[in-house]
Amino acid sequence: MDKQVLKLIVISDLHIVPEGQLSHSLDTTERLNKCIEFINNYHDDVDYVVFGGDLADNGETKAYHRLKESFGLLNSPSYLTLGNHDNRENFLEVFGQIQSKETGKFDYYVDIKKHRIIILDSSCPKYSAAGFLEKIQLDWLREKLTQARDKAVIIVLHHNFVDAHVKTGNIILKNNVEFANLLIESHPEIRQVISGHIHMTSSGFYKGVPFSTLSGSHYNIEPTLKYADSRLMPPVPRREGPGQIAVVLSDKDSTVIHMMNFIDRHLPMAQDLFGGYD
Ligand SMILES: [Fe+2]
Repeated sequence: MDKQVLKLIVISDLHIVPEGQLSHSLDTTERLNKCIEFINNYHDDVDYVVFGGDLADNGETKAYHRLKESFGLLNSPSYLTLGNHDNRENFLEVFGQIQSKETGKFDYYVDIKKHRIIILDSSCPKYSAAGFLEKIQLDWLREKLTQARDKAVIIVLHHNFVDAHVKTGNIILKNNVEFANLLIESHPEIRQVISGHIHMTSSGFYKGVPFSTLSGSHYNIEPTLKYADSRLMPPVPRREGPGQIAVVLSDKDSTVIHMMNFIDRHLPMAQDLFGGYD
């Protein structure tokens, strides 16, 4: 690959649990380790790997200790941010104070190969599942975008900011319109906003901003779409796979995302593994 092409990998929704436990029948640590092995074997030229939140399933300290061990297997530089399943205090207890000094959250940026990669922390205790960006984060984001108008920008955050017309449309980024307007006002070339959270592969466009979601490392949900009269499709299966990463290849003119599957096992999962969910 041309040395001028940025290669970024996004992984999301690891949902690690303490040793001896499974998450909805899945060994999520084994899946993460497979993912890391896949990156080490096939993508040793990656510039950065971003772990996009829902690092732990229930935010336990023991789960973060396991996660730390798995991160140690990765050969490439990485960033991480949190999702709605994470527990900030427990995470910090295990990983130490690695939050951004500017916003007090896991918000970072890095400049590489004429790109600015921005990682945002949309996890917010005000909401149990939805996401939110505080004013201090939006101010920080505006500054980081304005400073980088000569670079292409790629943004990663846990929560999708566009309703994908599925039943989980109420747990997206709550201040999504404010976020999108800020992007449009502050930068002429947002190449992509990449999220996890909905455990589905999708891509789209919102007021000029292209976005995508990846299925991630946990189970995959077939989209339960809303009909035009607001009814929902009958329940569709969750599946054991794919376990998926987003491989982003970006140069001065183009940005391409390959959703690559490191686990290709698409078996439907039993509905009763998900308690009250349909
Ligand atoms: Fe998740």
